[in-house]
Amino acid sequence: MRVVSGIQPTGNLHLGNYLGAIRNWARMQDELPDGSECLFFLADLHAISMPHDPAQLRSATLEMAAALVACGIDPDRSILFNQAQVPQHAELQWLLNGTARIGWLNRMTQFKDKSGKNREGASAALFTYPVLQAADVLVHQATHVPVGEDQKQHLELARDIAAKFNHDFASEEEPVFTLPEPISPPDAARIMSLRDGSKKMSKSDPSDMSRINLSDDPDEVMKKVKKAKTDPEPLPSERDGLEGRPEALNLVTIYAALTDSSVDAVLADHGGEGFGAFKPALGEVLVETLRPISARFTDLLQDREAIDAILARGAAKARERAVPTLEAAYSALGFVRGDGTR
Ligand code: TYM
Repeated sequence: MRVVSGIQPTGNLHLGNYLGAIRNWARMQDELPDGSECLFFLADLHAISMPHDPAQLRSATLEMAAALVACGIDPDRSILFNQAQVPQHAELQWLLNGTARIGWLNRMTQFKDKSGKNREGASAALFTYPVLQAADVLVHQATHVPVGEDQKQHLELARDIAAKFNHDFASEEEPVFTLPEPISPPDAARIMSLRDGSKKMSKSDPSDMSRINLSDDPDEVMKKVKKAKTDPEPLPSERDGLEGRPEALNLVTIYAALTDSSVDAVLADHGGEGFGAFKPALGEVLVETLRPISARFTDLLQDREAIDAILARGAAKARERAVPTLEAAYSALGFVRGDGTR
């Protein structure tokens, strides 16, 4: 297994990132069969697809690296790095731009969401971003990519690009790229906003009350849970009773994910309870989950040079792993590289 995944270092790590992806990263790292490897990275090159502040990008990259370590990514067992230190990602993107089709990119919902009404004014990077994301996983021959629901479309695209490239420039017996498999948690692949059960929890939501940040203190967590939008009905004892109640379903989903249970089991236990009782119970579980993470996070941030060193070490290993695939792609496309590779 080659497990590869990334996160954009913009804004805070929130509960959606954690339950949808990062907790799975840590679990896959802990349960990895012999001979397998995990590579986790900060998708800093993706940040320039939207207006950004360079100083903020620098500090957000270090902070996100610290947050990942605080969540259990062990830099001695996983390769943790930032994209900008592994130029093979961007280089492969250019090669893949020849294979990706404009029609495929036009279908990407994230581009439509992020460009909004100002499509003409969006950066070209925002449009071609999914090709870089394909390069991120293909350059490392990823077999498994743990992501939340919202990234599955990008992973499908990566598979389409890999399949077309293999078909056009390689052979079935000796493909250049492995087709990666997205992995999402069954219940928590899409954690919703606390203010609106029809929108996903997101870093870019202007209201901080819509999300739980992993850096929120216990009072903030409790306040956000208590103010979370709900309806006046008590919890049902079965899942069918959550039909048309997206906010209630979201809170039950979060509780189930945090306690390693299922929506059905939580409803069997809490059915009949009103939110006046369920919300404080959920708040407690959240506070207890976040307590050790935020303590480690604060500790790690005391030594920013140590985080720099972790990223530099991870990048050196990632470069080593990326070079053979990049060279194979150059060679398959017919480039002369001057070192005997054809
Ligand atoms: P990003 O930074 O938006 O999110 C990081 C991870 O968190 C998941 N996630 C969620 N899961 C459940 N509920 C939510 N509300 C929620 N919000 C976010 C995302 O699905 C993701 O797994 N394009 C990617 C970063 C990336 C990448 C890659 C990922 C770049 N290259 C290669 C995988 C492989 C992104 O913007 O994720």
